[in-house]
Amino acid sequence: MKVGIVGAGMVGSAAGFALALAGTASEIVFVDQNRALALAQAEDISHATPFHSATKVTSGGYDALDGADMVILAAGVSQKPGETRLALLERNTEVFRVVVGAVLAVVSDPILLIASNPVDIMTHVATRLSGLPRSKVIGSGTILDTARFRSLIGRHLGISPQSVHAYVLGEHGDSEVLTWSNARAGSIGLSAFAEQVGRPLTQDLRQSIDHDVRNAAYRIIEGKGSTYYGIGGGLARIVKAIAQDQQAILSVSTTTDVVEGIENVTLSLPRVIGRAGVHLDLHPDLDDEEREGLRRSAEMLKDLSGKLAL
Ligand code: 2OP
Repeated sequence: MKVGIVGAGMVGSAAGFALALAGTASEIVFVDQNRALALAQAEDISHATPFHSATKVTSGGYDALDGADMVILAAGVSQKPGETRLALLERNTEVFRVVVGAVLAVVSDPILLIASNPVDIMTHVATRLSGLPRSKVIGSGTILDTARFRSLIGRHLGISPQSVHAYVLGEHGDSEVLTWSNARAGSIGLSAFAEQVGRPLTQDLRQSIDHDVRNAAYRIIEGKGSTYYGIGGGLARIVKAIAQDQQAILSVSTTTDVVEGIENVTLSLPRVIGRAGVHLDLHPDLDDEEREGLRRSAEMLKDLSGKLAL
């Protein structure tokens, strides 16, 4: 498995680092308009791999992507403190016009994994610009918000986040929807589990977790300028599901036929991920409030993507 990473900034390099340590890919290639940065990231990460894996880490121009099975697009600008993800839209659409064409000139049928924000719209843009099947253009979407949600629930209940089955759906951004109604701990409904262990999920606690998940990126950006380890881990998780044909269920963003009555909208749902990309979209049971939240998120994303001249 050869993985290209276009954009060797903080997000691209964190993804490369996580992937290299996991040993999921046999080869990782960094491409960046700043060639010296790509070279330096590749060299630095290649010094960590001997401790963990045999992944070869290199850099080059777009031609170095030849033979890549998958290309992560992490190019473009990122948020400044206080800025929303949506504020990046115009600038990153212009970046993608160049990048998507340049990648496809070298690799004819890759899986594109989109990390640049606003990730749902950028996934929509990449799908349209590339002409690739929807199932092969995957945005990291809410994989990170889902991880943040599971980690806070796990911490409250005193269990591993990996034993929490709960999803954040819709936009990776302010309108995202934390779906409590179908959440489970192991095989037990979340509320019942919380009662059993004597740590009830009060309304206040739910609101505080909702606030902390929704505002995690703003908080981190305020503190250190950008977020990258979380998303780097999430991207590596998606690559692993594809490389190992896992049929894993992950909340990621792709263009979807219909979501709550809105057609052809790009957002996150739980999806089955394997060798061919997205194998199946899942539409979980939601309560009325979550359903309405998802509809509003879908409507907002649909309106925005409809305004782009692609
Ligand atoms: C994050 O949620 C900024 O989208 C990035 O960490």
